[in-house]
Amino acid sequence: MVEECQTPDFKNTGLRGMVIASTRISDVQSEASKLIYRGYLIEDLAEEATFEEVAHLLLNEKLPSEAELKDFNARLVKERAVPEELLAALRLFPKDALPMDVLQSSVAFLAAFDPDIEDTSKEASVRMGIRLIAKFATVVAAWDRIRKGDMVVPPSDELGHAANFLYMLSGKPPEDQVGRFMDICLTLHAEHSFNASTFGARKVSSTQAHLYAAVAAAVGSLSGPLHGGANTRVMKMLKEIGDKERIDGYIKEQLDAGGKIMGLGHAVYKNGDPRARILAPMSKKLGELTGESKWYEMSAELEEKTKAAFKEKKGIEIFPNVDFYSATVYNAMGIPMDLFTPVFAVSRISGWVAHVVEEKFAEAAPKPMLYRPKSEYVGDYCGPEECAWEPIDKR
Ligand code: ACO
Repeated sequence: MVEECQTPDFKNTGLRGMVIASTRISDVQSEASKLIYRGYLIEDLAEEATFEEVAHLLLNEKLPSEAELKDFNARLVKERAVPEELLAALRLFPKDALPMDVLQSSVAFLAAFDPDIEDTSKEASVRMGIRLIAKFATVVAAWDRIRKGDMVVPPSDELGHAANFLYMLSGKPPEDQVGRFMDICLTLHAEHSFNASTFGARKVSSTQAHLYAAVAAAVGSLSGPLHGGANTRVMKMLKEIGDKERIDGYIKEQLDAGGKIMGLGHAVYKNGDPRARILAPMSKKLGELTGESKWYEMSAELEEKTKAAFKEKKGIEIFPNVDFYSATVYNAMGIPMDLFTPVFAVSRISGWVAHVVEEKFAEAAPKPMLYRPKSEYVGDYCGPEECAWEPIDKR
């Protein structure tokens, strides 16, 4: 006979506010709303740098010289193609497979083709990282074309990373301005300290598993609706609302039901996400360029009205995060809604790789440490003692 069980409170801190490791890669300043990659403000990088320069900065700890950038670009271009075997495997997936699942599977698949996979040196991790940064764009674009029944567009050696990605998706090189906007989007999404997916990658690497294992975990983490999956859901939400007239009703329905307005709020930035401030005017401009300003205008109104409703209902401020306006930016670029999160991964792979390299090889770290937090058991005991075993016919 089972005695009365104790049921202590269930807690989940989500590790909020805990510093669990040092990093030299980026700084996310909550109060000041600043995002800094290796000492450089995101606003300056978005204005001045290409994604390739940013990826070099994250991975090699410095902005490249002209010669270094030329070499880095050439290495990325050389690594853009994916093995024929992967393209053949992608053709076996059901056409309605979720693109993040396809990407995650492709990461494990590519591991089997990487000549450095068993090399545990820092140099090998960097080489593998460059391969993954280059190939993510190719995998995402190839999958989109395969599922639509179109021919895969091989990468172009002539275009930069962002423009080449858009080219592989549509088969046409983008207008210069659109290519540059994509370049900026990749810069904005490249890195964000210990967010859920990066922490996932670092946690896996802390076991000394290889880079591909860490990146596959990160892709899975990014797919969640509270993380990278939010940008797809922002666009779905805007389409569900459908018309400015319905914004007030939608906000009320969501807040009354304890639902979320996607793309608003952030676990760290409490005074606004600096990336959203760069993306909002880009969304406006792309709306003008494509002649379809409706989605930008709806977003702007939804932002303002949710802010007001939040103040009134909860007495707190809420701001758009990076996903809010990137949804309408990607939509205006003609990217399918369910590819928004994979596009995020096409950029964030650079941050993941930098973190894995830091986790394993940071010279300043005393020694790599396996992540192993403790949990508090709040499950059953039977009285003051453990439960006595009961044979199956007595339960
Ligand atoms: N819509 C409705 N309510 C919200 C939202 C939102 N978008 N964001 C926060 N809230 C609510 C919280 O539920 C909480 O309510 P409570 O006090 O009644 O429990 C209150 O506002 C305060 O929330 P915070 O503590 O500031 O936010 P938290 O750290 O818990 O969550 C998160 C951050 C998960 C991002 C949340 O804002 C959210 O779910 N937003 C929508 C999803 C989203 O856009 N995710 C992308 C994040 S950015 C990224 O991953 C790249």
